[in-house]
Amino acid sequence: MQLRTDRLWLHPLRPQDIPEVHELHSYPETMKYNTLGIPENLAVTEQVFAPYFDGLLQAERMQYIWAIRTAKSSFVGTISLSKGVARFRKAELAYSLVPAHWGKGYATEALKRVIAFGFDTLGLHRLDAGVAVENVASFRVMEKAGMVREGRHRKILPIPSGWSDNYSYAILESDPRT
Ligand SMILES: CC(C)(COP(=O)(O)OP(=O)(O)OC[C@H]1O[C@@H](n2cnc3c(N)ncnc32)[C@H](O)[C@@H]1OP(=O)(O)O)[C@@H](O)C(=O)NCCC(=O)NCCS
Repeated sequence: MQLRTDRLWLHPLRPQDIPEVHELHSYPETMKYNTLGIPENLAVTEQVFAPYFDGLLQAERMQYIWAIRTAKSSFVGTISLSKGVARFRKAELAYSLVPAHWGKGYATEALKRVIAFGFDTLGLHRLDAGVAVENVASFRVMEKAGMVREGRHRKILPIPSGWSDNYSYAILESDPRT
C-alpha cells in the first residue's frame, strides 16, 4: 500500500528498513516526547516492530506503518495508523521524523496523506492522535492537517523528563480537510 504526496513517497515498512528506524529512535531530540525511550541496541528496535510484521500475516490488517522517503529515497521517518475495534471505525495516528528533515513541512504532508487514506480507502470515521503538551511542533502538525484538540489528560505520558500531560487530537470524516 504505497502512498504518494507531492514531495514524498510512503511505503510499507520492511524488515530492511529497521536499521534506519533504529537510528531515528536513537536521536535524543526525536525521543524527547516519546514514551518508548531510546533503544539500547538494534535488537530492542526489532522487538518493538515484531508485532507489526507478525500482524501482516493476519487476515485483518490492524496496523499500517510506512517509511517516509524523499523522491531520492532519503529516509525521512515513519508514520503509522493503528485501527481499533471494527465497529468504532477509528484509528490512532503517530509519526516521527529524522531531525535533519524537520521544518520542511514533511510531517504535515505525510499526515494529510495518511488521513486521506484512513477516510477514503479504509472508510474510517475518526482518527485520533495524542501529543505531549510541550511538543508544540507536533501539535502544530496536527492542527495544520485539520485535527482538533479535544482534551487534556494529566500526567499520563512517561517521557524522559518525567510524567507529561497529553493533548488528545482528532479529525472526523465529516471535518474539513486542509
Ligand atoms: C513533530 C515533528 C514530526 C514535526 O515534523 P516537521 O516535518 O518539522 O513538521 P512541519 O514542518 O510539517 O511543521 C512543524 C510546525 O511546527 C512549528 N514549530 C516547530 N517547532 C516549534 C516550536 N518550538 N514552537 C512553535 N512552533 C514550532 C513549525 O514552525 C511548523 O509550523 P508552521 O508551518 O506553522 O510554521 C518532528 O519534529 C519530529 O519527528 N519530532 C520527534 C518525534 C515526535 O515528536 N513525533 C510526534 C509525537 S506526537
